[in-house]
Amino acid sequence: MTDRAGATPDGDGETLGQRDGMSVLERAHAWITAVHPHARHLERTLDWLLVLDPDASDAARIAAATHDVERAYPDGDSPWDSARDWDSVAYNRWHQDRCAELVEPGLRDRGASEELAREVTGLVRVHEEGGWLEADLVQAADSLSFLETMVWLVVRWVESGRAPRERAEGKLYNAVERMSPDLTQARELAQPLYEAGLRELDGIRA
Ligand SMILES: [Fe+2]
Repeated sequence: MTDRAGATPDGDGETLGQRDGMSVLERAHAWITAVHPHARHLERTLDWLLVLDPDASDAARIAAATHDVERAYPDGDSPWDSARDWDSVAYNRWHQDRCAELVEPGLRDRGASEELAREVTGLVRVHEEGGWLEADLVQAADSLSFLETMVWLVVRWVESGRAPRERAEGKLYNAVERMSPDLTQARELAQPLYEAGLRELDGIRA
């Protein structure tokens, strides 16, 4: 797992760090851009985080930019289907844990200190559920980015028969509803994105 997630084109992360002058966030972004099928979603999660919290910590920024990393390394033996299981507690535990287990060595290999890698991993491990302010902000940013960049996937679920329309609508609703009630700005920003997503689902024949 470390080999796949942690590999960098030029080898050892520390050496690379001294040579290229890139921050851990920049290296993490380059990693995700190179391997992830939904790299734009992760990039926009970071953008939304900075809208919600311009002073977000490095750990929160890196967590936003990497949180769904496991989707870049599919487990062929997994019984889960995100279209069917998106609201399963067990599926979300599996997804979050797998992301955490991949991100920690991946960041260490890209020059993150033990402390930074641990902080990011803690946030990635709860990115679907939040739990404290910083985690809630990453989760809300993920929701905003999902509604902005991933509705096409939910539309495809319905078109392909992977999920009924009601379940697809539920996924969009959940992206808003799961946000902390304290994050009023995030909820307000999500509303027009949610409504646009519903209109897209309404527009398909399935
Ligand atoms: Fe996400």
